[in-house]
Amino acid sequence: MSRRAQFLEVLGIPTEWIPRRPPAAPEGGTVEADLPAVMAAEPETAEEAISMVAQASVDMDAVEAADVFDVVEPLAELLPPAIVDAPLIAPVPDRAAAIAAMDWPALDAAVAACEACGLCSTRTNTVFGVGDREAEWMLVGEAPGENEDLQGEPFVGQAGKLLDNMLASLGLRRGRNVFIANVLKCRPPGNRNPEPAEVDQCEPFLKRQIALVRPKVIVVLGRFAAQSLLRTTTPIGKLRGTVHSYEGIPVVVTYHPAYLLRTLTDKARAWEDLCLAREVHDRAGAQA
Ligand code: URA
Repeated sequence: MSRRAQFLEVLGIPTEWIPRRPPAAPEGGTVEADLPAVMAAEPETAEEAISMVAQASVDMDAVEAADVFDVVEPLAELLPPAIVDAPLIAPVPDRAAAIAAMDWPALDAAVAACEACGLCSTRTNTVFGVGDREAEWMLVGEAPGENEDLQGEPFVGQAGKLLDNMLASLGLRRGRNVFIANVLKCRPPGNRNPEPAEVDQCEPFLKRQIALVRPKVIVVLGRFAAQSLLRTTTPIGKLRGTVHSYEGIPVVVTYHPAYLLRTLTDKARAWEDLCLAREVHDRAGAQA
């Protein structure tokens, strides 16, 4: 893959948007004159170029696909050779920084086009997450399973039905005042455990989702999601029952609904966890 294609991919701009022919200048004008205002100046540093490209990817959501051709190619031309030609020194921080600046449409597009790990070759759909993007509650699971991969939505199988009941017990409904996402946006084949490298590549997406939703409480479902989000190896039994923090947002850990389907005796414990989460939510509401 060319250096420029890599750079645009990192920023979530699908490379197929780049025309093979050079963009024609509009009659009586120049290509530059048609670029969004943010692109009017030439970037002088790598940071400036990155922020301009990220900004342009945001602006592109407001324009027609045809216009996108006229924005992306000249944009790539504006990148200084230092960026276009230099070997990637630290791809992960650059990518994470670009993702951290995205709005919802850019993030949505970046997840859909992501090829940062091998899971892209076996997925049917990416599973971005679902629900109210201004929700006070956020639920985080592990990774899509077979049904989720087919439908592109989290928790749609048997575990999802139980999750919906758990939500109902809190007076919540999927799509109303709750946003549901996973640590991984693509299904690990055969429902194997996610690899650390896959989590590392996907984490910036979840981090940005949490930053955009800004929930009052995050409920983490299951050992894997809890240990990934909280960056710990502490067993779930020890993580339950206390309030943790992720980027300043309170986090309550409970069992994964798929585990609860197999271990009915732990449902009462899960109910205690949800009561704790509700307490945390209500307390945060009182302070707001
Ligand atoms: N299990 C999860 O952790 N997430 C899903 O979306 C489905 C099953």
